[in-house]
Amino acid sequence: MKEKYYITTPIYYPSGNWHIGHCYTTVVCDAFARYHKMLGEDVFFLTGTDEHGQKIEKKAAEAGVTPKAFIDPLVAELKEIWKALDINYSKFIRTTDEEHVKAVQHIFKQLYDKGEIYKAEYSGWYCTPCESFWTEAQLKDGKCPDCGREVTLEKEESYFFRLSKYADKIIKLYEDNPEFLQPKSRMNEMVNNFLKPGLQDLCVSRTSIKWGVPVTFDEKHTVYVWVDALSNYITALGYGSKDDRLYQKYWPADLHMTGKEIIRFHAIIWPAILMALGLPLPKQVYGHGWLLIGGDKLSKSKQDKVKAELTDPKQLVARYGSDALRYFLLREIPFGSDGVYTNESLLTRINADLANDLGNLVSRTTAMINQYFGGVLPAAGEREGTDGELIAAAKALGGNVKKAMDALDAPLALAEIFRLIQRANKYIDETTPWILAKDESKKARLGAVLYNLAESIRIAAIYLKPYITAAPDKILDCFGIDGKTAEDFSSANEFGVLKAGCAVKKAPPIFPRIDVKKELAELEALAAKRENKSAAEGKPAERPAVHEHTEKEQISIDDFGKVQLKVALVTACEKVEKSKKLLRLSVKLGKETRTVVSGIAHAYAPEEMIGKKVVMVTNLKPAKLCGIVSEGMILCAENDRGELSLLAPERDMEDGCEIF
Ligand code: MSP
Repeated sequence: MKEKYYITTPIYYPSGNWHIGHCYTTVVCDAFARYHKMLGEDVFFLTGTDEHGQKIEKKAAEAGVTPKAFIDPLVAELKEIWKALDINYSKFIRTTDEEHVKAVQHIFKQLYDKGEIYKAEYSGWYCTPCESFWTEAQLKDGKCPDCGREVTLEKEESYFFRLSKYADKIIKLYEDNPEFLQPKSRMNEMVNNFLKPGLQDLCVSRTSIKWGVPVTFDEKHTVYVWVDALSNYITALGYGSKDDRLYQKYWPADLHMTGKEIIRFHAIIWPAILMALGLPLPKQVYGHGWLLIGGDKLSKSKQDKVKAELTDPKQLVARYGSDALRYFLLREIPFGSDGVYTNESLLTRINADLANDLGNLVSRTTAMINQYFGGVLPAAGEREGTDGELIAAAKALGGNVKKAMDALDAPLALAEIFRLIQRANKYIDETTPWILAKDESKKARLGAVLYNLAESIRIAAIYLKPYITAAPDKILDCFGIDGKTAEDFSSANEFGVLKAGCAVKKAPPIFPRIDVKKELAELEALAAKRENKSAAEGKPAERPAVHEHTEKEQISIDDFGKVQLKVALVTACEKVEKSKKLLRLSVKLGKETRTVVSGIAHAYAPEEMIGKKVVMVTNLKPAKLCGIVSEGMILCAENDRGELSLLAPERDMEDGCEIF
């Protein structure tokens, strides 16, 4: 029987504004899924979208549509990106799928029946007309921040999951299975930061959020989004439904691949839920690093740098092809760590590895077979010189790639494949076929050299198939091999499979070399165009919501002292006409009143701003935005998903007072 392999990506928030960083987890999983399929395993590869929760509810309401109508086009867009990147998933789950919703309800009920979930009270300030709970800090002058009416200290009933009792069990899980959570650093982080200090029971239902899975036995509650989302890994297989054959076949998952920022959910909360349900645990969870953008602090400012990078996956694929993007993501980022994206690093990878090393090897070899042997593959002949070394490298490739992939190190697997490609290029320099070709008596030797090269290329191309999906088939086609017949690695573990006498076509240009200087200039011009367009529309240039390098140069206390920060009270606020992003705010700083234009309209409604006390930079040179002079800047925190949170003094302070 075939061994099974079940791999999952996290399910994506349908946030839109998809960028190259979003593609990372999925491209990595696709490469692992394809690799295991080629090993002959029965693979199930799951991805999808995480569609419930307050954020979507709010955004849809702002857009004046239902949450589902708001999400559908974003999901379609994501699927288009996966298609462009040749992602071959087995299933795309949406948490709004009816079967998923029913299964989550079943899971929640099971947990409740087992006593793992209990009802308790969650206390906060309640505004009856708005049906909303607020924390002390959220109140505006002690009143409801939404409608300004009186609030009362009340309690919202919620269901809680007994997470606290699982801390020791999870520590033991890690101790007994050191491979469970990788890389190792993530395990230390979980143990020291969360498990050792002790876990709190987790609030797993809300009555104030309607856009969620209703609790069947208490319909005013909806299930906490993370419980809903994590359950997808089993509901997608039919767990909790009449037909759970896929669940029986594929669960437990072999690998949950996730970004490092959501490892806590996958390595603590999810195992605890499964333990509570009495279900088997996934075999491994891996928390990969981030793709960072704008890391080059030596050139222009971070902001300018980010704007200059081309980060839209579809545009990148249209410009350089899906292979180039997949290769970059899989090769450039040391697995488990962060990696930096710049236009230049992408172009350099394309040129150095794909055009020079791989492209040249294939084009030189097939051209020589055509030039010297009329496009007919010569015989292998006697071995001499460095033949043995090249053949040994080709034969060792499968084992080396396997070692790297078993260690979940896709960049290393690619490095191994390119080591063979580089060895073959060196072999051309060593054997100098163009000199052999001048001497008729060396014809057999020339044939043997070209045969060895053709075989090395064939083996490298087959091993490349999980990582890049178009070029290997084009390469194999030159040697009369249909890519589909090379769907497993068996033929790549032998040297001497190609038959002498077979036809060899001259390779088409597979990865044309890019003129980096020219291309960078074009990208800069494109970025400038984007910016001008945005400026003309009166909005700040779209900045991709991607994790950015936060490291800046050190500054002295004197440098910092030049910045004047004050507490400002927002007294009026309105949308700037013709701009999606800008709000115009009137703020009070003690006796002084100022106007500020701020790009936060996607995160805050104007009504929501009035009465807020914010932190403001007051000595910035005034700047005109959309025709309005902005006399300062208010400060926000922004996470990797582009969500904003305004900075505010932790205790109530008079407006106008200084911050230092
Ligand atoms: N919906 C949750 C996951 C629920 S799983 C039960 C979520 N979604 S997400 O859309 O924010 O992220 C999806 C994946 O994209 C995560 O693995 C995240 O780490 C990854 N990335 C998003 N931006 C990224 C980079 N810049 N770099 C690398 N991966 C990052 O979290």
